[in-house]
Amino acid sequence: MPDNFDLVVIGGGPAGYGAALYAGSAGLSVGLIEKDKVGGTCLHRGCIPAKEFLETATIARTVRRASEFGIEASQPQVKFEVSYQRKNKVVSQLHGGLQGLLKKRKVVTYLGTGTLQADGSVEILGNDGSTTQVVGNSVLLASGSVPRSIPGFEFDGKYILSSDDVLDLQALPESVVVIGGGAIGCEFASMMADLGVQVTMLEALANILPGCDREVALVVEQGFKKKGIDVRTGVKILGYTETANNTVVVSLDGGNQVEVSKVIVSVGRKPYTQDLLDDSSGVDLDEKGFVKVGPSLETSRNGVYAIGDLINTPQLAHVGFAEAMQAVKVILGESWLPIDYHRVPWCIYSNPEVAFAGYSEDQAKSLGYEVVTHKTRFSGNSRAMIIGETEGLVKVVCQVDSTGKAGSILGVHMAGPWVTEQLGAGYLATNWEATPDDVASFVTAHPTLSEAFGEAVLALTGRGLHG
Ligand code: NAI
Repeated sequence: MPDNFDLVVIGGGPAGYGAALYAGSAGLSVGLIEKDKVGGTCLHRGCIPAKEFLETATIARTVRRASEFGIEASQPQVKFEVSYQRKNKVVSQLHGGLQGLLKKRKVVTYLGTGTLQADGSVEILGNDGSTTQVVGNSVLLASGSVPRSIPGFEFDGKYILSSDDVLDLQALPESVVVIGGGAIGCEFASMMADLGVQVTMLEALANILPGCDREVALVVEQGFKKKGIDVRTGVKILGYTETANNTVVVSLDGGNQVEVSKVIVSVGRKPYTQDLLDDSSGVDLDEKGFVKVGPSLETSRNGVYAIGDLINTPQLAHVGFAEAMQAVKVILGESWLPIDYHRVPWCIYSNPEVAFAGYSEDQAKSLGYEVVTHKTRFSGNSRAMIIGETEGLVKVVCQVDSTGKAGSILGVHMAGPWVTEQLGAGYLATNWEATPDDVASFVTAHPTLSEAFGEAVLALTGRGLHG
């Protein structure tokens, strides 16, 4: 006899465990299938370990600058194995907390690989070799994504590293090439450079962070150059050879070569569908391998939903949570609002940090909007001067209204100190389609870094205070 549930979830990352918790809190019985550890990429091989290593980098930077504040500290010695242990401790605390939460919501967790069958049931091949059949009134697919590579740079864990490999390093390499200047590439390059690793970043396009506002990306590029990262854009990578000295030589178009200890490939992630679907499961994939879904997140098969990195939406843990809650509402027959994907928050934890929501200036213009923008730089912000981090800006992009004034806020784009913690007001303004007049009357505390957003919207009303 199969085990029966209201909802069966395959995959225990943020999307899958989010759905299990949310459904559990609504009183549904839930079976959750995970072949590794609940928490998925985000907790074990992504966001959390990466930010832990980045925090170590922040401490190193701070200690290096201590004498500027009259605190004499010796030059920091990096003991990366301690950071590695601390990272494991934080991950394991969060993992324990998550397991406790799932238990509290009476979610039944199966350790194994779930495959959706032609009859709609899910067969679980347990990690212990057993097989179990489970049936759900609804099934939710959330098997996530894995790092993508490029031809000639297959991951070997020795010289050619994926993000999974980097987050499991117990010692820092002397030098690295980072292929890809996206979110992952920038976070790793920044962390490594701050910890004393020689970093070369190779980006195929004309700019790093191609998805970001140009002026924001420029702040990051300048910050990276200042910390000694060799940022090369518009490059074509041909291949690599191993040397007798435990290094590799990466060859570029134009005869250039870079010799390093390790190569980190961060050129995106692809959906993970291995063993997820029986050939006659009735769930269709698109040409890139993502599971196809309609607006309600239902797949081509009735009663089967897909969420998270498995579908072609922004590959962010918080988007996975939002999709999880939407799918559960659909399953419960409750009213739901579609997720406004172009207005979700993005945060990149490199130094300088990046945070944004909504259209960049170029995106808005290419969509036909007439726009007016304002930039407030942190160089004039008192808190930024106090902490000694004055590089960066807050840029607000508005649609020009019928009277020629700054109308709805289309996007807020930030680079600089602690911007990942400052996006809240800009995120709300963008998602409420507020105008500068709507938000400029809200009082921003002084002295704070977040005054930069307040100054930018004030300026867009036509009457600035300081900026
Ligand atoms: P990405 O798509 O953000 O960036 C990949 C970069 O690699 C692009 O700039 C692309 O032009 C470049 N590239 C591709 N092929 C190349 C080649 N052959 N040579 C040189 N450059 C090449 O992908 P990334 O950084 O791997 O991140 C994957 C996903 O993970 C992102 O879509 C993001 O959603 C998520 N993520 C988000 C983070 C955050 O929000 N803090 C942090 C880490 C990941």
